[in-house]
Amino acid sequence: MSSGIAILGAGIFAKEAHLPSLAALGHAAPVLKAVYSRSEKSAHDLADAAAIALRLTPPAVYHDGDKSTDLDALLARSDIDAVIVVLPITLQPSVILKALAAGKHVLSEKPVAPDVAQGLGLIQTYNTTYKAKGLIWRVAENFEAEPGFRAAAAAIASGKIGKVIFFRTVVCNYIDKDSKWYKTPWRTVPDYQGGFLLDGGVHTIAALRIMLPHRLTHLSGFASLNKDYLEPHDTINAIVRAGDNFHGTAELTWASPTKSRPVTDGFVITGTDGWLSVNQVTIEGANDPVLRITVKSVIKAEGKGEVEKEEIIEEPVQGVKAELASFFDAIAGKDALNIGEPLEALRDVAFIQAALNSNGSVVDLAELAPSAL
Ligand SMILES: *[C@@H]1O[C@H](CO)[C@@H](O)[C@H](O)[C@H]1NC(C)=O
Ligand SMILES: *[C@@H]1O[C@H](CO)[C@@H](O)[C@H](O)[C@H]1NC(C)=O
Repeated sequence: MSSGIAILGAGIFAKEAHLPSLAALGHAAPVLKAVYSRSEKSAHDLADAAAIALRLTPPAVYHDGDKSTDLDALLARSDIDAVIVVLPITLQPSVILKALAAGKHVLSEKPVAPDVAQGLGLIQTYNTTYKAKGLIWRVAENFEAEPGFRAAAAAIASGKIGKVIFFRTVVCNYIDKDSKWYKTPWRTVPDYQGGFLLDGGVHTIAALRIMLPHRLTHLSGFASLNKDYLEPHDTINAIVRAGDNFHGTAELTWASPTKSRPVTDGFVITGTDGWLSVNQVTIEGANDPVLRITVKSVIKAEGKGEVEKEEIIEEPVQGVKAELASFFDAIAGKDALNIGEPLEALRDVAFIQAALNSNGSVVDLAELAPSAL
């Protein structure tokens, strides 16, 4: 029997990110054989969308309410080796464990868990019970896989800006009650810390994790709620450091008063010999947005003093495709990227959790999310 995959969860991201990415991977992706959603209608909608996007006969539909077609029935199929879990944040941990217990490889959407304690619990269970059986569990963090952030990381690692001394990131989002993201019931009334700050904020922190040469160790911050429909919090201002190496700031909000983004949005990482910025831009006529990296290097030229050199790198945004490819490679035992390590994704949750609770006090991030278990 040929190996297949299933998508568990039929929300916006499953349809608009995972299906097109699977389609783009073509034969490099295993066949999508089944989909599951708690609701029968959503599961059918996803199956229909998959049939069109992937040009295949509709995958089998599984949903709650009937033993012959529920999640356990899907997980009992021996022709499905791996599942992609794209469910509401608080449902994910139990489904991840169920899938692993059924002997499936798992790629689960970020955040790794709603909070650090649950994430640690999952990681420990995976590590002690399922890892040795050869099962792969990866967290789908598309910013970690994004070629643009990886290119920025490579530019920094190759010394183009010298030694990193400070950085800043600004993420300014506008969400109104008509937003398709806000209308997702589990996001309208979130039952997890941080609301959009957890759901979306972990992406930004993952990008920092990839680009910065040292792990962030300490954080102090303040959090607030400025638009009551974005409860429990919509804004974080944090100051962080990476040991004695460098420090920086992170400013994350989903409460922007304007739909247009301020020009400050993005990342700037400054070193002793230059700086690098990363911004998402849409180039006219192109389908996908790109990440544009501007690298300014100071070159000390003989007899000319200091000369500034500018380099522009542009990479199409395709992190979901890259993370899927890496997951399938990992299952096949040929992971080149080695991304989506749950313990790494846990650090992104730790950052947000620390910023939500700090109230100005310094939080030790390494204590909150240990680097080894
Ligand atoms: C934050 O700390 C201040 C005192 O510095 C205190 O008045 C306030 O209640 C604290 N806020 C929270 C949410 O704990
Ligand atoms: C996994 O468990 C082993 C012991 O079984 C331990 O040595 C290792 O540090 C653990 N790794 C992680 C990432 O938790």
